[in-house]
Amino acid sequence: MMLKDKVAVIYGAGGAIGGAVARAFAREGARVFLTGRHRTPVEVVAKEIGGSAEVAEVDAVDEGAVDRYLRYVVGVAGRVDISFDAVGIGNAGILGVPLTELGVEQFQAPIATHTTAYFVTARLAAQHMIANGSGVIMTVTTLHSRTGLPLVGGFGPAMAAKEALTRDLSVELAPQGIRVVGLRPQAMPETATIRDAFEPRAKATGMTWEQWLELLASRTHPRRLMTLAEMADAAAFLASDRASGMTGTTVNLTMGSLDD
Ligand SMILES: NC(=O)c1ccc[n+]([C@@H]2O[C@H](COP(=O)([O-])OP(=O)(O)OC[C@H]3O[C@@H](n4cnc5c(N)ncnc54)[C@H](OP(=O)(O)O)[C@@H]3O)[C@@H](O)[C@H]2O)c1
Repeated sequence: MMLKDKVAVIYGAGGAIGGAVARAFAREGARVFLTGRHRTPVEVVAKEIGGSAEVAEVDAVDEGAVDRYLRYVVGVAGRVDISFDAVGIGNAGILGVPLTELGVEQFQAPIATHTTAYFVTARLAAQHMIANGSGVIMTVTTLHSRTGLPLVGGFGPAMAAKEALTRDLSVELAPQGIRVVGLRPQAMPETATIRDAFEPRAKATGMTWEQWLELLASRTHPRRLMTLAEMADAAAFLASDRASGMTGTTVNLTMGSLDD
């Protein structure tokens, strides 16, 4: 088991990525503390995992709430080894709008939520990790960070900012034994997020959902899209000591559709 006895806190654990990562971390032996803005979807994930999985309602952009929760985790588990930010916000009003028509608030919404959740959860976790001289801080981005895509509003700048923050956190924290690693998966069609994000764009270009998925898959080297389980397996490896040489980087999981 790659994560035996590691203590992992996951934000957005009721979501598709957060839930899959929680299951993979637990399967690899981690003690998982699952959090989300709303309790019910997180409870569903915890129930599937069973054992010592714990659930809490924590808004990841609320500094006080995250601080209190991490103090609780350290109180009951002794430390925090892994912090995983899987927070994502709904696409309504953000995607599908041309930049020339996008309001300032709509533009700022993904930038504010994604960067603040990552910054707050990383900074507060690091304060506990520094005391132990070890830890892994992780987040998720998309290929919008590195390539121009139409009708994605402030989402591309949000993803690029998170990848920059991964580098900057790492350069400050790695000397203290803390690794900072991001994951950049290609779209995983089994998630509702992808359908929400791409259906309006598919419609706008006169394509069916199936045709759109085929188009996306055709851009990858294996001509298929990734599964949540594949992404979560990669996350478990990157969180483990077996990836001790990796920090300050966002791992390209786009299956060849984006060159580094
Ligand atoms: N799905 C994919 O194929 C894919 C691929 C590449 C990258 N990504 C990126 O990965 C991230 C997660 O994607 P996903 O598909 O897992 O999305 P998701 O299923 O919508 O999950 C996102 C989770 O974040 C929670 N959340 C939102 N705001 C929060 C806050 N302030 N504090 C705590 N939790 C909060 C949501 O909870 P509530 O519903 O209770 O608000 C939800 O459970 C997104 O940034 C997405 O763009 C996704």
